[in-house]
Amino acid sequence: MSEPELIVHFTEADAARDLRADARAGLTDRPKWLTPKWLYDAAGSELFERITALPEYYQTRAEHNILTRHAVEIAEITGAGTLVELGSGSSEKTRLLLDALRKTSTLREFVPLDVSESALRQAVTAIAVDYPELRVRGIVGDFTTELAAVPAGQGRLVAFLGGTIGNFLPAERARFLAAVRSSLRPGEWLLLGTDLVKDPRRLVQAYDDAQGVTAEFDRNVLRVLNRELDAEFDADAFEHVARWNAEQEWIEMRLRASRAMRVPVAGLGLTVELERGEEIRTEISAKFRRERVAGELADAGFELSRWWLDEGGDFALSLATAI
Ligand code: SAH
Ligand code: AVI
Repeated sequence: MSEPELIVHFTEADAARDLRADARAGLTDRPKWLTPKWLYDAAGSELFERITALPEYYQTRAEHNILTRHAVEIAEITGAGTLVELGSGSSEKTRLLLDALRKTSTLREFVPLDVSESALRQAVTAIAVDYPELRVRGIVGDFTTELAAVPAGQGRLVAFLGGTIGNFLPAERARFLAAVRSSLRPGEWLLLGTDLVKDPRRLVQAYDDAQGVTAEFDRNVLRVLNRELDAEFDADAFEHVARWNAEQEWIEMRLRASRAMRVPVAGLGLTVELERGEEIRTEISAKFRRERVAGELADAGFELSRWWLDEGGDFALSLATAI
């Protein structure tokens, strides 16, 4: 087995700088917001893994179902030499792709990229053991700014799974897809997971589960601010809210202050004032229809080549080629 490599492009100093800028912009805005990137410290990454197993959170199982049925086809069509995975997390489902690409014997290298060093470290260690024939190069990085860190590779397939594309606002999504496209050569591939528009009741339940795991995941961002910015949020004084925005076709996660409060954030030299009932938006999770996915891929310079659904019709996986 070759030892996995871990390249740190996003250092603690970078994280501290970006968190300060994001928190200052979001907590002084009206309405207040935070970017979802900060949900994934070590505790947040573990909470996300628990979310993926919740009965209400169908996405992970649905995408697993698609990969179980189509990974071999993906391997045959792409003949990928390098598999790059953005926002890779535990890379659990990615093993279905790695297994399929092992059968076609084309794959030489696996390059997962994630902002969460803890999740990435665990994933590359486990994958290097189970796939000893591969060069495994983990990159600790921000996929919105550091796609240039992705190595040139040979015949790349970039996987962006889990529906994470839905966590961008529309303009960010367009910028991201364009950046992915310009990091690829014509003929290379993008495999994109998108959750689909469906009954809002199911969507709200998926983001407000009965066990309260998603609520803890959401509130964890306040603990990140307390630790990293010497803030004094009482996380338990915030209620987790999941709401369907029918106009935008996205779920919004928000933290609602259960009382009026003045919260010192020493690291920013700021006191954040919240009224009783005031909300901080912590994440959006956009849901898609085929036309929107195909259109946005085309706008970014990709051609949709295959579109697969899980057996329940909840989630889609798109395979697109850079043109
Ligand atoms: N792909 C996995 C994990 C999805 S959770 C799955 O399908 O289950 C979203 C992942 O994206 C987390 O691992 C999180 O750490 C990572 N992430 C979030 N924002 C990021 C950013 N700006 N840059 C890189 N990784 C990011
Ligand atoms: C990572 N991302 C696709 C998840 C989602 O469903 O939007 C994050 C998440 N937020 C709450 N639950 C899961």
